[in-house]
Amino acid sequence: MEPLILGIETSCDETALALYSNKGLIENLVYSQSEHQAYGGVVPELAAREHLEKLPRLFKQLLQSANIQPKSITHIAVTCGPGLIGALLVGHNFAQGLAQALNIPLIPIHHLEAHIAAAFINTTFEPEPFLTLLVSGGHTQILLTNGIGNYQLLGQTLDDAAGEAFDKTAKVMGLGYPGGPKIEQKAQDATQPVALPKALKLRKDAMMSFSGIKTAARQHYLEHQKQPLVVENIAQGLQACIAEQLTRKVNTAIKTTGVKKLVVSGGVSANQFIRSYLEKHSLTETVLFPDLKYCTDNAAMVAYLGYLRRFDDIHFEIRARWPIEELNPPKNL
Ligand code: KG4
Ligand code: ZN
Repeated sequence: MEPLILGIETSCDETALALYSNKGLIENLVYSQSEHQAYGGVVPELAAREHLEKLPRLFKQLLQSANIQPKSITHIAVTCGPGLIGALLVGHNFAQGLAQALNIPLIPIHHLEAHIAAAFINTTFEPEPFLTLLVSGGHTQILLTNGIGNYQLLGQTLDDAAGEAFDKTAKVMGLGYPGGPKIEQKAQDATQPVALPKALKLRKDAMMSFSGIKTAARQHYLEHQKQPLVVENIAQGLQACIAEQLTRKVNTAIKTTGVKKLVVSGGVSANQFIRSYLEKHSLTETVLFPDLKYCTDNAAMVAYLGYLRRFDDIHFEIRARWPIEELNPPKNL
């Protein structure tokens, strides 16, 4: 029977389902929860309740738009962590119920590994070693990737994630959640970008920090909020400052490993300014970004990784924290 993998993603505030087969991605549906906007950040309890309500409807919609019967699904891949525990549990329970009803196996998926896999949807996962810059709302890491399931952590943030700095600065300036896309949009009208401090300049390793930048941006806003274009100028200053640090740390990783191929993934990788800054100023030979629609949370990356990991033994554990270095390569490799 031809494999048809249903991917389920509920680790944060996107309820997402997708289907992947030998032909590639068949269907991809994402519902971005809007309920959190009023709070300027994700409310975990609300996220879980929303997933619970939306999943069955989204599943029905998926079957209709792909024109398939549930019995043609051969595997279910579901995100098990890292993420919000309540939100993960809703996705897992839904997946388990469906897997039992259809008598098909479940495949546990690591959310960050799925973000890396997103760069290879509809193609082949790069077998040669490459560096990964993983920049999302909860994580900022630089990894040496030696194929699926083989990751070495080279550096990570000591405090906030890059996405968090975008979200929190946007919140202070009243732009709403998620902050990254709003900051990117505002930055286009900047006339005099605000210079923000370069973090960890004296540190020679690939560790990163974004909380000082966030505080400096906040301070500047509070002191100058009556000035024209202050939001736009902070937005561009923040974007540029984050791009500079990410690039500087990627260059450190390139110098220590000699690996010059880079994959950039996670929500922040959707940022066009950061993309072109990395392309222009990093020491890379090749930089690969996922398609824009696969940068932020989605289930296409989950279904695709499930397709690659469909021969694994099933070991399920829902984990709010789950270091990516603990993963192993898939069984069929
Ligand atoms: O990967 P993701 O969807 O969820 C997590 O796994 O965290 O990443 C969400 C993060 C948020 O912090 C959001 O503000 C940021 O990605 N983001 C962006 C952009 N689009 C999303 N940051 C900068 N520029 C963007 N265009
Ligand atoms: Zn994510």
